[in-house]
Amino acid sequence: MAARHFITLMDFTPEELRDLIQRAIELKRMQRSGEIYEPLKNKVLGMVFEKSSTRTRVAFETAMAQCGGHAIFLSPRDTQLGRGEPIEDSARVLSRMVDVIMIRTYEHEKLLQFASYSLVPVINALTDMQHPVQLLADMQTYFEYRGDIRGRRVAWIGDGNNMCNSYIDAARQFGFELVIAAPEGYLPDSDILKTAGAATRLVDAPETAAKDADLIVTDVWASMGQEEELSNRRLAFADYQVNSELMQLAKPDCMFMHCLPAHREEEVSAEVMDGPQSVVWDEAENRLHSQKALLEFLLTGRLGD
Ligand code: CP
Ligand code: NVA
Repeated sequence: MAARHFITLMDFTPEELRDLIQRAIELKRMQRSGEIYEPLKNKVLGMVFEKSSTRTRVAFETAMAQCGGHAIFLSPRDTQLGRGEPIEDSARVLSRMVDVIMIRTYEHEKLLQFASYSLVPVINALTDMQHPVQLLADMQTYFEYRGDIRGRRVAWIGDGNNMCNSYIDAARQFGFELVIAAPEGYLPDSDILKTAGAATRLVDAPETAAKDADLIVTDVWASMGQEEELSNRRLAFADYQVNSELMQLAKPDCMFMHCLPAHREEEVSAEVMDGPQSVVWDEAENRLHSQKALLEFLLTGRLGD
């Protein structure tokens, strides 16, 4: 049987995603109460990182350790991947040894190609197109603070980047309304937008998107690989900062999320980032719990209690 991958949120059913979030909340409770739970004993995760990472790497590595398994960090600098060994050969070899593989890379196509040759589940740990594991943590955080996100209004402010694309998928899968304010030339992927349906709409002004929002989300103006575009992007995004004035247009209990790392006073003011409506530290911690739930599901099939 072909391995089950997690390339985008669309690879799971809405029910599976909801169960996964509940499982993440349960695994967090177990971890906090000191319960030893090792469902992944002797299992090994291969972690291919072609871009930098703090949260994703530490969350996956810690999740494997706490679950009784092991993780191997593989960087192109010191593997044959960086010396041009074909992606399909690397996929065939790695997947004969480890039980699950996560990849962070540039081209989404490369991840798809790797997955098509892998005998074991492959997890998208960020591409230029998508960042679905971050969405698991964001959804967990929303559910913990406010309950079900179905029917709620989420505002995406800024770059129509990999995170924004994954939010479009999340709006479909979790049933929330997504209002995106992105400048001309920085809109989300057109193919993903086409599949988005009525729940997602584009607006011109950040103020329109923020109005009556339950959750406001943003991300850096220049993603990894776009560093040279930063000065142009600073101009294009100058009116797209999430600050207190923007937050005031939203619902009084609106929360602020950011996948991090953040640039204070660029895409978000320090006042909002470090203010009472920001849940970014819980969001970051939930990377651990939600990725643990994802690994457990892919490796054992377990989703619920
Ligand atoms: N949010 C996120 O993916 O962080 P890292 O780049 O540190 O993994
Ligand atoms: N959009 C950002 C997310 C980092 C976690 C990037 O791709 O660099």
